Amino acid sequence: MSNARNKFIAGNWKMNGTLSSLSEIEVIKSLFGETTYDIVILPPATLLAEASKIVAGSKIKIGAQNCHQNISGAHTGEISVLMLKDIGINIVLLGHSERRTESMENNQLINLKAETSHNCKLTTIICVGETELERKNGNTKKTIEYQLLNSLPKTFTEDNTIIAYEPVWAIGTGKTATAEEIHTAHAILRNQIKKLKGTAVASKLRILYGGSVNKENSSEIFQIQGVDGALVGGASLLSADFSSIIKSISR
Ligand code: 13P
Repeated sequence: MSNARNKFIAGNWKMNGTLSSLSEIEVIKSLFGETTYDIVILPPATLLAEASKIVAGSKIKIGAQNCHQNISGAHTGEISVLMLKDIGINIVLLGHSERRTESMENNQLINLKAETSHNCKLTTIICVGETELERKNGNTKKTIEYQLLNSLPKTFTEDNTIIAYEPVWAIGTGKTATAEEIHTAHAILRNQIKKLKGTAVASKLRILYGGSVNKENSSEIFQIQGVDGALVGGASLLSADFSSIIKSISR
């Protein structure tokens, strides 16, 4: 992946998409195949191999939404990083709030998964974010600092990791965080990286915003200082919407 805080836009399809949805990836490839931005589409596991073939030779990358912390073995229903690499996938999303809640993934497990991914040369997108209650109680800083500190493995570098700040209350709700809230949260996270790894790493690390990003608000979000891109959910499913978001980087 290119770095120097190059803009990074990822589309997380979550549990959506069937074979016919691959045409959306074809369109994104035809529009942005030569892009200088880092564009990653994260389709469900069933589409990874086909999607990977579609984008081969272009600048678009395909990523997985999860992986197991072990590289092989008796883990029914799981997918290992070696299997991902086998089909040309080199990026994995970890610690998404839906997995933290629905699959009971904690920081320790996310840390293990990230370490395994880094050891196998995968780039990780690691998500953190506070719930509505945590924000209401004034615990946003404490929550996201704790998640970051404990989810990041020792193998983490500014090149193999991208952080996504996704306030849980903004995911799929149409409630986007304000520019001020996004700016503050990103500054907290970058400062935490500075304390952990020093200024040089903190200044190179990319931090994305996610939570109800759409073609109407993306341009404003991309302009917030400290925001290096977006992790888009619902609005990444259709190439028409996702391409408008990508184009809004330069608006
Ligand atoms: P929405 O863009 O649908 O709110 O989802 C955000 C998200 O969770 C991306 O990972």
